[in-house]
This record gives sequence, structure tokens and C-alpha cells, in this order.
Amino acid sequence: MQIERLSKTFSQAAGPVLDDVSLTIRPGDIHGIIGRSGAGKSTLVRCINLLERPSAGRVIVSGRDITALRGRALRQARRGIGMIFQHFNVLSAYTVAGNVALPFKVAGLPRAEIARRVPPLLELVGLADKADAYPSELSGGQKQRVGIARALALDPSVLLCDEATSALDPETTDQILALLRDINRKLGLTIVLITHEMEVLRDIAGRVAVLDHGRVVKEGTTFDVLAFPKSAVARSFLAGLVAHELPPQVEHQLLPEPVADSDPVLRIVFTGHAAHDPIVAELVSRFQIRPNILHGRIDYVGDRPLGVLTLVASGVGGRLPAVLSHLCSLELSVEVIGHAVRSVAARRHGAAV
Ligand SMILES: Nc1ncnc2c1ncn2[C@@H]1O[C@H](COP(=O)(O)OP(=O)(O)OP(=O)(O)O)[C@@H](O)[C@H]1O
Ligand SMILES: [Mg+2]
Repeated sequence: MQIERLSKTFSQAAGPVLDDVSLTIRPGDIHGIIGRSGAGKSTLVRCINLLERPSAGRVIVSGRDITALRGRALRQARRGIGMIFQHFNVLSAYTVAGNVALPFKVAGLPRAEIARRVPPLLELVGLADKADAYPSELSGGQKQRVGIARALALDPSVLLCDEATSALDPETTDQILALLRDINRKLGLTIVLITHEMEVLRDIAGRVAVLDHGRVVKEGTTFDVLAFPKSAVARSFLAGLVAHELPPQVEHQLLPEPVADSDPVLRIVFTGHAAHDPIVAELVSRFQIRPNILHGRIDYVGDRPLGVLTLVASGVGGRLPAVLSHLCSLELSVEVIGHAVRSVAARRHGAAV
């Protein structure tokens, strides 16, 4: 699916809610779109399936510009795009089977055909034993399963999920994400996951776009977005997930410029195999640095390790350029993020060296 230069303005006074958004979502991918509240995520989804007419731009689904369609052709094309929501949108007057049968009824399928097509869908989402239950008898996770089954009824090529797990507890969220990944693999279905939580995307989305004030400010593999966040918005989503930011107590001690008694503070991002290398030991033995670790952790994105380590390169002195180029040669990303005044102990040791 291609989103080409999509814009949406509701009122000239308020300005554009979507501003020249372009994205390529590859068939069979799980593609995340993350943004703060009000960033324009739901508007983007509604423009993709044309519940809302974009002010400009095109949406290409399976090679077809659906923004050019009207009436019956548009309704037909829309069937190729399934959608699930935060609040499940399950009709309380219908049973589980009745809810899943709705899209078939709307499409005018004969009753016998509907009776044949509903059970496999319930099976797929793990609700085979709940066919006759009413929504009031279901948990949130089960209601979302009904939503998923209903969205898949007409064999869409794309499933749009707008905050589909936001109303669920963490364990149920994981179960629903596992179900989506399962469906993605089994059916080869393209999934667009819209969320304000990076946790939701970390393990299942191959690519992520960061939306801010209606613009795409970053797009790339989930790993790269997590490992190398460039914008403040991208960073803000990673708090708690990846240790890019220092705890405030430590941050306060950093100086922007070196002073007589300071050492540089390095932030090293370890990716892939380097995450397992004894980098710190090497800094000690090759460069006679006494690293003082301020902050760090290793996380996993999918199955790739991603480590962020912030350390004071005590005693590095004039060897700093050599240290930086050595770390770069190991394909680590390294950055001097400030300077720390040497502690009394380090000063004493520095004098000895
Ligand atoms: N129909 C509308 N008419 C006017 N303004 C709208 C309309 N729909 C959305 N907006 C405005 O567009 C902006 C983006 O809203 P949108 O619902 O797309 O954000 P969102 O990223 O989905 O936020 P959330 O995370 O809270 O769901 C908001 O400022 C909102 O007020
Ligand atoms: Mg929204």
C-alpha cells in the first residue's frame, strides 16, 4: 500500500491535521505508526480507508488508486481494508457469531454461505467456543478478537489497527499482538498498527513511522528507530524502553563544555553482535581509561540486542579521538554527550597514571 503526499485540513484556521504524508507499506509487513495524542493518527487511518476524504494526495491499495473511486467501486475497494479500534465496536445486541456475520450480511451473502464462513473465522481468533455468547459476557480481549474476526471476514489485504490494544491490560495486549502476528504470517495479511506506545511495536513491527503534528518525522526499521532516534519526539517514545536518556540526577551533573578538571561522557549504542563484545574491558586495556559507568542497559528488539551505555571516560585525555575512531571501527555508534567533573578519587588516580 502506498500513501502519497496525503494532506487533510478540516479548517483553514486550525491548519493541516495531516501534512504531506507519504509512506510505503510493503505487502505482508507489520508496519507501525506511532505518535502522540493529536498527532493525526486516527485521521490518517480514516483517510486511508476514505471514511474521511483527504484534502490532497492518493492512497494506492493493491496497485489501485482508491482515492479516485466513488460509489459502488469505492465500497468494493474498501472491503480490501479491514479495521479494528480501541473500543472494539462490537454490537451488544448480537452474539459473537452474529457480529462476525454482519459484514457478510451487508455484502449480501446467502444465509447458508454465511453459516459456512463464520466458524473458521471464530476458530482463527480462538473464539470457537463463544459463538453464542453476547458481548456483555466477554472480556476486553475476547471482544477485540470478535473485532478482528469481523475485520477479516471479507478477506482484506490490509488490516488497520487504531490503538487496538490501548484498552487492554499488558498480558491481554501481548495475546492480541501474538494473534495479529499469527494472522499476519498465516494469511500474509499486511497490518498497519497505530499506537502511542512503542512497547506495542517493539517486538512485532518490522518498520515504524513516527508521526508528529501531521508529518512523518522519522521512518525506518523498528530497530533503527529505537537505536538511533534523531528527533526529540522519537526519543520521547523510547523512555523506559531504551536507555537513551540519562536519569535526571545524572543529567544534572553534565557540563556542556569541558573544564579544567573534567572528562568526556560518552554514550555508546551497541547493536547486533557488538552488544556481546567486551568493549569496556578493551577501553581499559587498550586506552588505559577508567570508565565510570553512569547508566546503561541492554534490550531486545525482536531478537536483536540493543544496548545503550553512558560512561565517563576518566583519564582519556588526548586519546579521545583515537578512542572514538576505535569505537566507530567496531560499528558502534558513539557520541560525546557532555563532560563530567572528575571525582576526587579519579583525580587521585589520574595523578598516579
Ligand atoms: N472531524 C474533525 N474535524 C475537525 N478537527 C478534527 C477532526 N478529526 C480530528 N480533528 C483534529 O485533528 C487532530 C488530530 O486528531 P486525531 O484524532 O487524528 O489524533 P490522534 O493522533 O489519533 O490522537 P489520539 O492518540 O488521541 O487518538 C486533532 O487536533 C483533532 O482535534
Ligand atoms: Mg486516535
